This record gives sequence, C-alpha cells and structure tokens, in this order.
Amino acid sequence: MNINLEEKFAEQYHKKADAVYFTPGRVNLIGEHIDYNGGLVMPCAITLGTWLAIAPNHDNKFRFKSLNFDIETTIESDISHEKDGSNWANYPIGIINEFIKDGKEITGMDFLFYGNIPIGSGLSSSASIEIATAYALNSYFNLGYDKLELVKTAKRVENEFIGLNSGIMDQFAVAFGEKDKAIVLDCETLKYKMVDVDLGNYVLAIINTNKPRELADSKYNERVAECQTALKLLNEEITLHYLCELNAEKFALHSHLITDETILNRATHVVKENDRVHLAAKALNSANLEEFGRLMYASHQSLKTLYEVSGKELDAVVDFCMGYEHIIGARMTGAGFGGCAIALLEKGFEEDFAKHLTDYYVDKIGYPAAIYISEIGGGPTKL
Ligand code: GLA
Repeated sequence: MNINLEEKFAEQYHKKADAVYFTPGRVNLIGEHIDYNGGLVMPCAITLGTWLAIAPNHDNKFRFKSLNFDIETTIESDISHEKDGSNWANYPIGIINEFIKDGKEITGMDFLFYGNIPIGSGLSSSASIEIATAYALNSYFNLGYDKLELVKTAKRVENEFIGLNSGIMDQFAVAFGEKDKAIVLDCETLKYKMVDVDLGNYVLAIINTNKPRELADSKYNERVAECQTALKLLNEEITLHYLCELNAEKFALHSHLITDETILNRATHVVKENDRVHLAAKALNSANLEEFGRLMYASHQSLKTLYEVSGKELDAVVDFCMGYEHIIGARMTGAGFGGCAIALLEKGFEEDFAKHLTDYYVDKIGYPAAIYISEIGGGPTKL
C-alpha cells in the first residue's frame, strides 16, 4: 500500500489509530455462478484489498470515512439502521446491525477505510469491506465469532440488507484465503480444501475491462431466479435441493422437464460448470496447467453463450487471449457484466501481452483495459 493509513487517520480524526487491519479481495479461478446452486468453486485471495484503521470514541457513534469515497457517514452506535441508498457505508452498517441484533456490546468507534481493489471490477471490494469490518470489530471487542460465522454474517448483509442474492463464495474467499493457495469450496456443505497453486512457468494476469457494471445487480438476481425456476421444474421428477446435485449425465435424464430454452441454457451452464471444476481441481493437483487452461476457456464460452453474463468487453479480452500464443487459458471472473477477466500468461511476456492487448482492446472497445499481474495472498490480518 502506498498510503500511510495511520497518518491519514490522525489527520481525519485528530487522534491515533488503535489498530489497523487488512482484508484481501479475490479472484475466482473457475466455478462461476454456481455457488448459489450448491456447486464447487475455486477462488483465491489476492494481494489487493481493504485496509481499515479504527479507534474508539466517547460519544457512542460510529463514524465511517474512506480515502476512496467522498461520502462520510455517522450513525448512533446502539440502534440498528436502515439502508442508505447506494452509500458505500451500507456494508459496514449492515455488519454492525447484525452484531447488534445478536446482542453484542459494541461501543462508539471511528473507522477509516482505504482500498486498492478497483470498485465494481468484480474482485469483491464489497465482500472485502464487509469482512474487514466484521473481522476488526470481532477482534477489537472480543465478540467470539469464528471465521465461518463472520462469513455467514457478511453474506446475510449482502442478501438481506444490500439486496443482492449472492452465494457465499466471495465472503468465504476473502476470509479463508491463504498465500499461494486456492480454496476448493463445496458451497452446499461448506467443506473446503486448500490446494497449492503452482503455476510453474505462468503467472496469473487480471485484466480489468474498465466497463462500469451497470444493472449488474438486477441481472444477477434474475439469474438466481432462473436457476430456482429450473430447480422447481426438475423437482417434479426428482428431489433436489440444488442444481449442482446433478452431473451432466444425470441432468440429461431429466432436462426434458425444462421446456423454456433460456432456463434450460442457464441450468446446462450450472451443471456443466460444476463438472468442470471437479476436472480443474484434478488438473491443478497433477500440475496439468494446459488442461486447466482449456477448462477456463470452456467456462468462459458457457458463461457467454448459455448463461449470458459476459459482454463485448470481456469477450474482447478472452478473444485476444485465445489468439495470443503465450496464454494457455482465460475467462471472465466473478459475476460478469463487465469487471475482470483472468488469464494464465507465460512468464516473461507480461509487457508484450499488455502492449498487444491494449492495442486490440482500444481498437475494439474505445478505451483501455487495465492489466495487473496478481499474487495469491493471505486472508484478514491485524497489522
Ligand atoms: C458474485 C457473487 C458470488 C458469485 C459470483 C459468480 O461475485 O457475489 O456469490 O455468485 O458473483 O460466480
């Protein structure tokens, strides 16, 4: 981080910060739009993230300031609060509401946030802010929650307070991430394994399309509802809690129940993407990166044509990657509708890739994308 947060805290609040915490963002290597369908996902934490400095105050208020946004918010610390439009402070406010509902004693506190995750880029800046708040308060006030409880609290905030019917992947990934490891998470049972990510002669490139994610939340909720429709139809013949209880073969036996083409496409993506993650986990374990890359391309194709959450910007990036000989796999990551793609890029070609992709992308889209070479980082920490 190129900012001295403690110094900024002193400038803002005219006192010293008591503690500073870091919480990462995440990328998802593969397994997209299947967490809310009980599927297997493979995210990892990244070294971009959210820093949070806090110190108690004596007037029983919570004050939220951020170096990234102009809006400053102050609320009373002993009552639950309503959502305030699209104010970024809804994320910490939502967490605090949940702790208050749980009967936890938390007294006045001043917060200063700073994040270097590009906002709206699909790298989970919101989950990072939620977990940063939950982790900091839990540790400062000894609230006694374990990490999974913090994750579930943050998901509840996202679903019930913010209004996005997301799955658990993002909050889980930023809370449980470990350096150089991917999390292979079963979203039905919440059992997980940490898997070494040894990319050998490759690096993980993150390409931000810089496309604003307009209407992304409503389209996201629409996809969640379409999956529920598919599930309901399949339940006329079999008993299922989640679409991902079926593999492609079993799905084929019952897919005739889904007559609407769009719903069938959505369910087909979900079931096959889940199968791909199982194959990808095997490929990673046996260091078969070529196979992993092939599965990434297949995932993108399915998100583009069957699930329809890509877009011309993400497709332009992945199309370029397919034609670039030093990349073995690429796909959109996260919710889609803009945001970021990831690619497995041969070491030593970082500059060449950035130059050629930029030329191609500007020509097609009209403005540049941003390229980062990412490291897989650890979970939340007190600094
Ligand atoms: C967003 C949601 C996640 C997940 C992804 C798509 O990031 O928050 O729960 O559904 O989209 O895989």
